[in-house]
Amino acid sequence: MLALGCDHGGYQLKEFLKKHLEKKGIEVKDFGTYSEDSVDYPVYAEKVAKAVQSGEAEGGILCCGTGIGISIAANKFDGIRCALVRDSFSARLTKEHNNANIIALGGRVTGTELAADIVDSWMNAEFQGGRHQGRIDIISSFEK
Ligand code: RB5
Repeated sequence: MLALGCDHGGYQLKEFLKKHLEKKGIEVKDFGTYSEDSVDYPVYAEKVAKAVQSGEAEGGILCCGTGIGISIAANKFDGIRCALVRDSFSARLTKEHNNANIIALGGRVTGTELAADIVDSWMNAEFQGGRHQGRIDIISSFEK
């Protein structure tokens, strides 16, 4: 299951990506927000980060206006590696090298078709382990 979350600035993109994933038969859980009324993006970052931290979700997708605030907030949670992505190459590499368990997108920055390709690239990639695991271990050591 993939956890989805957004603020008002990412609402339309989150809705688009939810349909995109559901069409592919991927199970999603939508943690809100559920309209374009103004809300605080850290609240939704926390919901998705905790779902990923606990193992309830295999990964997460977060959208705000730029993707920046919501990614900063998600990265405050231990074990979360949230990558703000703008292109499909980085989306693939952030799984292969960083094992990003959440990606963040900007609803006011990235168009829907590119966003869908970014999501697919991240989902279809596999973490390569090896030297990359050692680097992630160093990042994890900063959390203690
Ligand atoms: C909300 O207006 C906007 O600040 C938010 O969606 C996001 O872009 C923050 O980083």
